[in-house]
Amino acid sequence: MPEEELKFLNVVDVKKAYGSGQARQEVLRGMNFSVAKGEFCVLLGPSGSGKSTLLNIIGGIDHADSGYICIAGDRLEELNEKRLTEYRRQHLGYVFQMYNLIPNLNVKENIEVGAYLSQNSLDIDDLLHTLGLYEHRHKLPNQLSGGQQQRVSIGRAIVKNPDILLCDEPTGALDYNTSKEILKLIEEVNQKYGNTVIMVTHNEAIRLMADHVVKLRDGVVRKNETNDHKISAMDLEW
Ligand SMILES: Nc1ncnc2c1ncn2[C@@H]1O[C@H](COP(=O)(O)OP(=O)(O)OP(=O)(O)O)[C@@H](O)[C@H]1O
Ligand SMILES: [Mg+2]
Repeated sequence: MPEEELKFLNVVDVKKAYGSGQARQEVLRGMNFSVAKGEFCVLLGPSGSGKSTLLNIIGGIDHADSGYICIAGDRLEELNEKRLTEYRRQHLGYVFQMYNLIPNLNVKENIEVGAYLSQNSLDIDDLLHTLGLYEHRHKLPNQLSGGQQQRVSIGRAIVKNPDILLCDEPTGALDYNTSKEILKLIEEVNQKYGNTVIMVTHNEAIRLMADHVVKLRDGVVRKNETNDHKISAMDLEW
């Protein structure tokens, strides 16, 4: 069996087009790569290259037209609605560029939402300390800075201790220093809890902190490299 097939998460010949006729756009044109368990993988590519589309397909939010995602031996498209919901609930955490917090719940409650129905959630107080949010736990989202709000959304995504953490431009709305702090937090989470992380970005510098870098362009994988000398998020510069 080829080595690739032994990996934890496999993206196999995934194709996706939007629109029809003249307006038809082939966004993913046969995408192939694999991610090992516990790996910190960065998906790089210019705007419009299909990064979010791919992440949504991996997250079971969107469907591929052909090809498939295989996670721990299960093909996503073969799961019925109920098992797909279970898969998302138990195994996936999602962090978005715009934090999507619930405005009338405080920090702690927003994080607790992520633990809802999960079987092996992390200790919330311990997590609040890791996130640097313990003192802010009673505040509402509009009383927090952007970086703090993104910390809450990371907390909400990881409180159920998902096997896979998907992050779509998690620092896209943040300034330089705050971005580095958020990257450091994601790095810490990956090391402390061992979640497989797939992070989308168009910031080339971020590739240096990853175990694995996948570059997309024109709907295909242009580069697929492992990084043997990764550096800490704090040492990144751009
Ligand atoms: N629901 C949709 N309907 C039609 N076209 C779509 C839809 N979603 C995405 N697209 C198109 O697919 C292409 C890829 O979009 P996608 O959001 O995946 O890019 P991206 O790499 O995440 O870009 P960015 O870095 O700007 O976030 C874009 O040209 C976009 O217009
Ligand atoms: Mg995007």
